[in-house]
Amino acid sequence: MSNEPTLGAVYERLVGVSLERVWENVHDWEHLPWLHGLAFSAIELEASGDWGWRAWVRPAAPGDSESLLIDLRRDPDLDVYHTRTLEGPGKGADTVVTLTPESDHSTHVRVEFWLPMAQGEQAQAVGASLVALYTRLWDEDEAMMVRRQQVVDAARVREQSGVPPNVGAISLGQWEGLAGRLPLRVPSEAGDYRVVETEAGFAAHSVLCPHRGGPLDDAEISQGHVVCPWHGYRFALADGRVADGRKCHMRRPPRVERGENGEALLVLSGSSGASMQARSSD
Ligand code: FES
Ligand SMILES: [Fe+2]
Repeated sequence: MSNEPTLGAVYERLVGVSLERVWENVHDWEHLPWLHGLAFSAIELEASGDWGWRAWVRPAAPGDSESLLIDLRRDPDLDVYHTRTLEGPGKGADTVVTLTPESDHSTHVRVEFWLPMAQGEQAQAVGASLVALYTRLWDEDEAMMVRRQQVVDAARVREQSGVPPNVGAISLGQWEGLAGRLPLRVPSEAGDYRVVETEAGFAAHSVLCPHRGGPLDDAEISQGHVVCPWHGYRFALADGRVADGRKCHMRRPPRVERGENGEALLVLSGSSGASMQARSSD
């Protein structure tokens, strides 16, 4: 039997984002166990740089929990990268991805799965399972990259028009019955907020993650923190500070207060001011 790797399968697709967004995603090792939580349960970085990254990755599937040492490496001259399994199940596998920009918001992706010690029908079976896995991973990545592009575009517009003031108070309707109307999505000029109830009382937070713009609209609330679904950063509802020693904080969240006449108010960073009407989230 030859020791040469076998081409198990080829997977091709178009993704609706620029080449820049795709490279950003390729370098983003942190999202694996969060965005791709069905495929991976943990990642531990060994090294990263302009060249790519190397990390121990633990598969999520039960019975398949032996970690793999993955080395993702860019070709220095081409829009190509290799993802090699250096240790663990599938050691010696090399996934070669070629990126070709089709337009400003469209990139062609070609993935070749080179498999060690697999021949004939065995290589085809492994290749087919990898195509199924990569189809889901790229679906999840594309959704993240599309949203990320929207966040980048919106930030550019805001830069040109200036940052709106984050002051005043927004009416949330009557205090009585507020809990029954939660979660509540509250638009403001400075961005949308979500009002929730926790064990500590009512709280609010921006629906835009300060890390890379991940969606916090339906994010999990855990032990007084809102948890971003893209990379798992946890921000304290009390003051916006990030947990786990990471380096990205949320703007201090607004407070939910009981105003005069039994009105519930979302008080932004500044003091109370004119109120706008909130709308229920659906
Ligand atoms: S976008 Fe990365 S943690 Fe939210
Ligand atoms: Fe991904």
